[in-house]
Amino acid sequence: MKAIILSGGKGTRLRPLTYTGAKQLVPVANKPILWYGIEAIVAAGITDIGIIISPETGEEVKLKTGDGERFGANITYILQEKPAGLAHAVKVARPFLGDDPFVMYLGDNLIQSELGSFLNDFKEQHMDALILLRPVANPTAFGVAQVDAQGRVLHLVEKPKVPPSNLALVGIYFFANTIHDAIDRIRPSARGELEITDAIQDLINYQKQVEARRIEGWWLDTGKKDDLLEANQIILDTCLQSDMAGEVDAQSQIFGRVRVGSGSRLINCTVRGPVTIGRDCHLENCFIGPYSSIADQVTLVDVDLEHSVILQGATVTGIHQRIVDSVIGQRARLKAAPQRPKALRFMIGDDSQIELT
Ligand code: TTP
Repeated sequence: MKAIILSGGKGTRLRPLTYTGAKQLVPVANKPILWYGIEAIVAAGITDIGIIISPETGEEVKLKTGDGERFGANITYILQEKPAGLAHAVKVARPFLGDDPFVMYLGDNLIQSELGSFLNDFKEQHMDALILLRPVANPTAFGVAQVDAQGRVLHLVEKPKVPPSNLALVGIYFFANTIHDAIDRIRPSARGELEITDAIQDLINYQKQVEARRIEGWWLDTGKKDDLLEANQIILDTCLQSDMAGEVDAQSQIFGRVRVGSGSRLINCTVRGPVTIGRDCHLENCFIGPYSSIADQVTLVDVDLEHSVILQGATVTGIHQRIVDSVIGQRARLKAAPQRPKALRFMIGDDSQIELT
């Protein structure tokens, strides 16, 4: 059994962060989203993993993630020249996959459930495809499945105007090698992509065994800012353990679960967990409220923030209003005058969003 993780794509919904970086490397609780997928796959006993990368962000993904040793896996990088669809990515991965069955995992998805029991069902029942489903409030935004009482999939549609159910396809799939013939038979969709839902529908049309299981617990697709903040909140809530490797001075107060990485210094700060702070950060005269993740080498001076994600190397100084629900990109600089400013001076990149509320 092998696995492929899709880490190419355009990432238009997470711009401007994705102009300069891969969306799958954006951290959730200070760990790249992609790594949660790798860990879940390895935990299910699969160590032969192919990662689909794009020409734009592939090198960064490779550099950060490496050959898999740190995960106990063997990672092969597979270049997809154009983001021509999820089924196209499988096509590109065919030499890596050979005729092995495989898990396909979208690199910006996170689920709470473990994969092991789904994998067992898939293998023991010799399925051609196993998809995972979860009820959602807005099925028109997803691939949607209609399923019979035994869990067999009757019909799949991508972003339907009139959804046949409220069961959305989670971005994790199990396939036998029969999927390759199905992909060879389908044509690009109206948006010009080879759709995996069309390939699975093709299997159904050929009377192949396509089943679905519902997942319990949370499922997060971190494609947009608010999803990313929600993922950050849930992971901090469920996984964060206190750890004080950095230095915290006597004037600072720490409440709840807080992690401070080595080489970081907190001076006269109040931190109310769950909060994770990376390595080599400098925080002075700050209030850091719950559900905040601060990456490595961040400087915060005279800042009050909560429910926010600050990426590596960012600097924020002298912002006296509370910063909430924010994502601040790598090396970004936010600076205010010591007194109430008479004027605001900006250098703001394309697609940035700033709300003075
Ligand atoms: P999507 O989120 O559906 O697409 P996208 O990354 O292009 O993002 P956006 O809609 O914001 O423009 O893709 C799901 C995952 O699959 C994501 O991790 C990117 C990856 N992907 C590929 O690797 N190759 C592809 O051809 C496509 C479409 C997606």
